[in-house]
Amino acid sequence: MSVGTVSNVLNRPQLVAPATRARVQQAIAALGFVRNESARQLRAGRSRTLGLVVLDVSNPFFTDVARGVEDAVTQAGLAVVLCNSDQRVERERAYLDLLEEQRVQGILITPVAGVSQRLRQLRRRGTPVVLVDRWAATPNQCSVSVDDVQGGQLAAAHLVGQGHQRIAFVGGPFGIKQVQDRYDGASAVVREAGLPASALTVVETPALNFAAGRAAGERIAGMPPRRRPTAAFCANDLVALGLLQEMTRRRLQVPGDLAIVGYDDIDFAAAAAVPLSSVRQPRDQLGRAAAELLLEETAGHRSHRHRQLVFAPELVVRDSSDHHRRRPRNRADSPSPAAAASPS
Ligand code: RIB
Repeated sequence: MSVGTVSNVLNRPQLVAPATRARVQQAIAALGFVRNESARQLRAGRSRTLGLVVLDVSNPFFTDVARGVEDAVTQAGLAVVLCNSDQRVERERAYLDLLEEQRVQGILITPVAGVSQRLRQLRRRGTPVVLVDRWAATPNQCSVSVDDVQGGQLAAAHLVGQGHQRIAFVGGPFGIKQVQDRYDGASAVVREAGLPASALTVVETPALNFAAGRAAGERIAGMPPRRRPTAAFCANDLVALGLLQEMTRRRLQVPGDLAIVGYDDIDFAAAAAVPLSSVRQPRDQLGRAAAELLLEETAGHRSHRHRQLVFAPELVVRDSSDHHRRRPRNRADSPSPAAAASPS
């Protein structure tokens, strides 16, 4: 049995006759042979993995995106290494260094800030990169995202359409482009409705997580009723769920005292004690499309053209912002059940 035949059985089994392939596989099993991936990688120059760097691995948005990535990548016979930057630039950079050392075939990333010098250097040195959940401003960079400005417009139009004239935008930091774009979309709708700029106030958060939403809820609940917003558009669902829980803890009604809209439409949104309205992102599609773009580029297809795929957001209205479904407030009306358990 030649070395070439054994190599084909391991790497290109479709090239080997079934009977020969079976004999080789029996010999491999009998010898207990396990291929040495490091040696293979040294010869091939590239591993059989892709890197996926997400902002917050505890956010179901990213695990849903990761599942779409994994489905596409495993179908191609490769594996995914998941890295969590935790919204920290220095941690993102450390992971990019590690992934380049590991000679991954390519990197999918939701950058903490913009497209860093390090990402550009990675591409110059031969590692393809696709941005996920972030639109690439340059035509020679692949990206897959949702139109976040449109998403902000959908949320604000829904709340303005219900007569809200004191709306809080709850989210941050604004260095994350998605947050800025969602705010810009909401701000444009408020302006075009002829409302004063004060109709949309910002309650900035240090992060896009449940704890930040609860802290924002403390600030909002502490405002004098006449100044308190009557609605909140949150930069993502974790912030919205934290805000919802804090409102409920303080016996404030949602949507009666505060209508709430989130962003992503993760599974916890519909499952919340007061089902959460949210701007839906097609998470599985985002992940799958980003992986397919990267696989096309890493395969060296001459037909590969860098492109920016943009999906449309969709507003899903539920109890948390639909005053038609508002429960009447009465003495017998026991305080609404505790809001959804924290997803994290
Ligand atoms: O990527 C930034 C944010 O956009 C994440 O928190 C995620 O929830 C998405 O909405």
